[in-house]
Amino acid sequence: MPANVGGTTGNKCPSLFVGTGLFFGGFMEEKPKIISELEETRDKALASLSQVNDEEALQNWRRDYLGKASQVMLTFASLGQQPKDMRALLGQTANQVKQALEVALEEHTQRVKQTALLHKVQSEQVDVTLPGRAPVQGGLHPQTQVMRRIFAIFAEMGFQVYRTPDVESDLYNFELLNIPAYHPARDMWDTFHVEGEGVVLRTHTSPGQIHAMRQNAPKPVRVILPGMCYRYEQISARSEIQFNQVEVIAVGKNITFGDMKGTLNGFVRRLFNADVRTRLRPSYFPFTEPSAEMDVECFVCAGKGCSVCKSSGWLEILGCGMIHPAVLENGGYDPRVFSGFAAGMGPERISMLLHKIEDIRYFWGNDVRFLGQF
Ligand code: PHE
Repeated sequence: MPANVGGTTGNKCPSLFVGTGLFFGGFMEEKPKIISELEETRDKALASLSQVNDEEALQNWRRDYLGKASQVMLTFASLGQQPKDMRALLGQTANQVKQALEVALEEHTQRVKQTALLHKVQSEQVDVTLPGRAPVQGGLHPQTQVMRRIFAIFAEMGFQVYRTPDVESDLYNFELLNIPAYHPARDMWDTFHVEGEGVVLRTHTSPGQIHAMRQNAPKPVRVILPGMCYRYEQISARSEIQFNQVEVIAVGKNITFGDMKGTLNGFVRRLFNADVRTRLRPSYFPFTEPSAEMDVECFVCAGKGCSVCKSSGWLEILGCGMIHPAVLENGGYDPRVFSGFAAGMGPERISMLLHKIEDIRYFWGNDVRFLGQF
């Protein structure tokens, strides 16, 4: 088709896109400026769309080319003011441009979304082969551990665990253990008194002897009695006002001092090691006769003498003795027929020896730096 330069043929040509000109509104003239501008903007928009690669840029693009103030939309808005014979063509063109832009936007939006998703999936990839971080684990208190070892060793030797109350009467804590009110031995146990006549916090686990015997007499009894004891004392590196004890008692016929020695040696060797040396020293407790204390060879200096054993080479670990006839009787046994032994130890002292801990106050100080070591 030849160039239509100011043609006057009156020939209406439906084609809008003849590059150089067109028939328009009955006149042969240059393509109206407003239409070529729309097309230029369309081409520019489509070209710039390919550079858009995120959500925000998409929004901006939409605003620029399809928003209220965009050229296309303004064209629609201005149709009423355009010459009548141009309106149809202009409207059609604007529609086509708008449609082309919308289709392109839709396609490109999908592409951007896909790319973003792919990116997200790749960047958030979980490496399942990465070793996990172990959660911080709590542990058993060193005293719980030692108590359990003591229970296990005595269990092996046929002793059951038997629990008795922390709050006792003066009767059980003292009187029935052969410690009457006037007895000077009361001085061995500085006592916390609880409200109420003759109610005390037990100063030792020995009152459990009476409970255990009374519940079993006249059958033989072989139990250990673990638990907290309380003493109204000056707190120091060696003594606390609250501490554990484990009482050991065996009552039956023909139980001898030799049985006691054998049992306690067996216990100590299982707890520390098979060739630890022990000795029994004569001692005094109102509820045992004869009474003794058991020492183990000092671990720190192996008996040579050091500051821990105060140069003696020995460390005291428990008190013991043959149950006093008066106490057996209070427990419901005929002392002419029955005999028995008893021992009492402090598990904190034992832990201190096992772990070379130099201050008893660490046990109930609740410092995780200490507790975490066991
Ligand atoms: N109860 C005593 C104390 O607390 C220890 C002991 C128990 C001694 C049993 C002899 C027999 O020191």
